[in-house]
Amino acid sequence: MPDFSNDLPPNFSLDSHFLNLDRSNLEEMRRLGYQFVDLIMDSVLDTQKQPFVKDESPFRINIPEQGNDISELIAEVRSQILPRTINFHNPNYVGHMDSIPAAITIWADALISAINNNMLSYELAPIFTQIESQLMQWFGELFGLGSNCFGTLTAGGSLANISGLLLARNWKQPQSRTRGASNHLVAFVSDAAHTSFEKAMNVIGLGKENLIRVSTNDRGEVILEELEAAIQKAISLGKQPFFVAAIAGTTVTGAVDPIQAVGAIAKRYDCWFHIDAAYGGAGIFTPKLQPLFQGSDLADSITFNPQKWLWVSRTCAMIIVKNKQHLIDGFDSELPYMNESTLNFGNLNLQGTRRTDSLKLWLALKAMGTSGCRYLVERSLDRSEHLRQWIETSPDLELVCEPTLNIICLKSQNPQRTSTEIRQQWIDQGKLWLSLPLWKGDRILKAVVLHPYAFQD
Ligand SMILES: Cc1ncc(COP(=O)(O)O)c(C=O)c1O
Repeated sequence: MPDFSNDLPPNFSLDSHFLNLDRSNLEEMRRLGYQFVDLIMDSVLDTQKQPFVKDESPFRINIPEQGNDISELIAEVRSQILPRTINFHNPNYVGHMDSIPAAITIWADALISAINNNMLSYELAPIFTQIESQLMQWFGELFGLGSNCFGTLTAGGSLANISGLLLARNWKQPQSRTRGASNHLVAFVSDAAHTSFEKAMNVIGLGKENLIRVSTNDRGEVILEELEAAIQKAISLGKQPFFVAAIAGTTVTGAVDPIQAVGAIAKRYDCWFHIDAAYGGAGIFTPKLQPLFQGSDLADSITFNPQKWLWVSRTCAMIIVKNKQHLIDGFDSELPYMNESTLNFGNLNLQGTRRTDSLKLWLALKAMGTSGCRYLVERSLDRSEHLRQWIETSPDLELVCEPTLNIICLKSQNPQRTSTEIRQQWIDQGKLWLSLPLWKGDRILKAVVLHPYAFQD
């Protein structure tokens, strides 16, 4: 074997980066791992009583010619990076749909990186192809999609929604896969649906103008009569409706559309029925919320993000379809450089190379059990009820609407202090970190109560 050692740059050691074949650096590598464990435990998890952000000063990267010592880098992360992060571990952070990850999913992410298998194909991820397949069927059956369901994990709910629209387009107009889409196709979502639907219409070549947004009531639930009227109007204008979505957990108010009724309208007009349960899907674990999912068996596809309300670290989201063939036909892709006789997820997903997120999802579900998931979801509902009661007794504040899930929208009713001012003051005092979404033309305050210890005292 040629000796490559002379090519090594000064101060560079292979042993610092890779385990040696003679295992002489095994303990050095282990110590590196332990340093990261200490960093995570002491400077990330154990920061519940620390500010939301400690340092807002700008940071500039500086890539050196000669590599740094990894222990020094860990010290730099501790002193320079972590103080500039937003601290979701503080239980008073309730701003957006950001949960703290369950511990097992943090370590599972490191394990996933270490194994570094690739969900592109079976030959690159044999065990994870099996786990992901079974998990997708398990979740599909949980939502009532029946035994022919299937799905794939995606890097977020936006990608899952984009996938849903792509599958719907190719189901309605199979020729779109080869010749591109006709711009007569129109899709319908509520005006409270996530902006990823516009992104999706752009991506699939139909254009944002062909996404028709339907009015919602004060809570953010789609108005059924308006939905049907919008579909009929589009037909009268020569358009072809192909996709209707119900939202289970809207981004601002956490509203759940009447799934059964929206599904029935979708079917009446021969449309693909999608449920965006990116946020609210976790409600399926508790009988308190299960009635809201009545009619989910009508869905052709469902988006669900365990990374939001199931405490799985990012990224972990999915699109599930009722009919596996729709996923195969919809993506219609090939991997001629792989064994094509196996199940290759790269043919069923917008992504190619992909992390094996199924490992952490499986571990989280095994570690918590369905009863643990139910407990945690119900606990967050209880915690948000606590917040709601506090708002009702606060003279300066009022609820914007009745909450459905663990998302509470509020606003100032004190003419001397706007919602924006209240929010900033609370952030500065370390009292609460709320978000400030736009809702029906006004900036309001939103709390997403995900921290298991929120409002403990
Ligand atoms: C209802 C809903 N759908 C989809 C998404 C997009 O999910 P992601 O941010 O994971 O892409 C969001 C994000 O907040 C959402 O609230």
